[in-house]
Order: sequence, then structure tokens, then C-alpha cells
Amino acid sequence: MREVAKWLSESRYTVILTGAGMSTESGLPDFRSKDGWWKQIDPMKLASTDALLNNYEQFREFYQVRIEALNDCEPHEGHHILAEWEKQGLVQLVATQNVDGFHHRSGSKEVVELHGNIYTTRCQSCRKEASINEFMAENGCSYCDGRLRPNVVLFGEMLPEQAWQRALMAMQKADLVIVIGTSLQVYPVNQLPMMSRGKLVYINADVDEEQHAFHKVIVGKAKETLIQLAAMVGCS
Ligand code: OAD
Repeated sequence: MREVAKWLSESRYTVILTGAGMSTESGLPDFRSKDGWWKQIDPMKLASTDALLNNYEQFREFYQVRIEALNDCEPHEGHHILAEWEKQGLVQLVATQNVDGFHHRSGSKEVVELHGNIYTTRCQSCRKEASINEFMAENGCSYCDGRLRPNVVLFGEMLPEQAWQRALMAMQKADLVIVIGTSLQVYPVNQLPMMSRGKLVYINADVDEEQHAFHKVIVGKAKETLIQLAAMVGCS
């Protein structure tokens, strides 16, 4: 870990890439761990374009439950450390697969949400924006009565182009990429670290497969590991 802290202090352009494991210590389940969402339900049935078109009530309920769960959760110290590192000039961008908005809420400004944000809603038919309250109240679009949906990327959809391009360019510039709490199973985000010629660090609670592409693998929880790294960076 000391070496990673040294790399962080010395790097001129550092990108953080986060996944659902970044937020489990805030109380949100991830997707593929034993208590993760996709262990209980088939994402194709609830989080896909097919579900939006053919199974709308269950689709809407799934996202309502996830939005309600967020009301009881807060970003944790690890999120705040990343925001503080940005202020100190140690981190240039946080690219996240998370839709919980916790990086913004904890004060990070340079954030790319590659899978969208669950707090904003739009009409699937005319794309007009709607409020989260309208979605929770099960209203149709106020303009065309179309189906409201959160602005998240569903299975079967492309990533938002601008977000993707920004993350890609940042990876290409990075001297250091720190990947935190993602199983790296989802394309195309799992390709991003390999687009960098910089040092690659992987922080994850469970690492069962060898991660040959990474220069350092830290097996540990996101919050604890970031607290330890922050203490080391502070001392270096
Ligand atoms: P996953 O659930 O696939 O992976 C989360 C990873 O974080 C797992 O490897 C866990 O072991 C690890 N983990 C859990 N808690 C942790 C902690 N406290 N500290 C460190 N690591 C921890 O979630 P993602 O990789 O983010 O997409 O999933 C990618 C995408 O798949 C999601 O954005 C979502 C999902 O389908 C969409 O919905 C479009």
C-alpha cells in the first residue's frame, strides 16, 4: 500500500474508476456478490430495454425500490477522501459505474457517470425530463403521457457518448488508474483501465481471479483501504 501511496503523490494525472463495491459500505448492495441484486433477480427481466417495453410495472417498481433505498444511505468516508484528493490536486477524474450520485454528493466535481444517474428521469418516448417525484408517483410524461424512466443505462443500451469519451481520454492521459470495488465484468467499462499506459491499481474486497493487467492488487474494503492510503499520502 505504501508504494501505491507514493505513486499517488507522484502522479500528475490520476483517474479513479469505481463500481458498486465503492458504495456497499454505505449500505447499498452491489450486483454480483452473494447479497448482490443479480443474485436474486435476472437483470434482463427488470433492468433492460425489454423490461421497459414489455414489463413496465415491474421495471418501475425495481427502480422505485432502489431510489427509496438511497434515501437511507449516505456517502462514506472513502467517497469524501476521493473528493478531498481532488481538491488537493491528487485526483483529476472519478469515472464511476455507480448511479447513486455519491461522488457528487461527497464533493467530487470532476465525475463521469458512465451508467447514468438514478436521481434524474426522462420520458422514454419524447425524452422530456421529468422529476423524480413524478416517477415515484407513477405518473406518465406530462407532455406526451409516455413512460417515465430513470436516466440510467439499461441492458441493451449504449453508454452516454460524452461520458464515455471523457473517461477514455482521461485514461489515455493517466499516469495512475485506481480501480475500486468493481468486478470488471461489464463491457465496455471493464476495458477502460487497459486503455491507460499508466500504473494500474485494483482495490477489491474479493479477488478470486489473478488480475495480471494490474501492477498492484489490494485485497480490502474500499473505505478502509482509502482511509489507510489517505493517512500514508498525508505522511509522505
Ligand atoms: P459488481 O457487483 O459486479 O462488483 C462489485 C465488486 O465490488 C465485487 O467484486 C465485490 O467483491 C466488490 N466489493 C463489494 N463490496 C466491497 C467493498 N466494501 N470494498 C471493495 N470491494 C467491494 O458491481 P459493478 O462491477 O459495479 O450496470 O457492476 C458493473 C455494472 O453491472 C453496474 O454498473 C450495473 C450492473 O449491471 C448497470 O446496471 C448498467
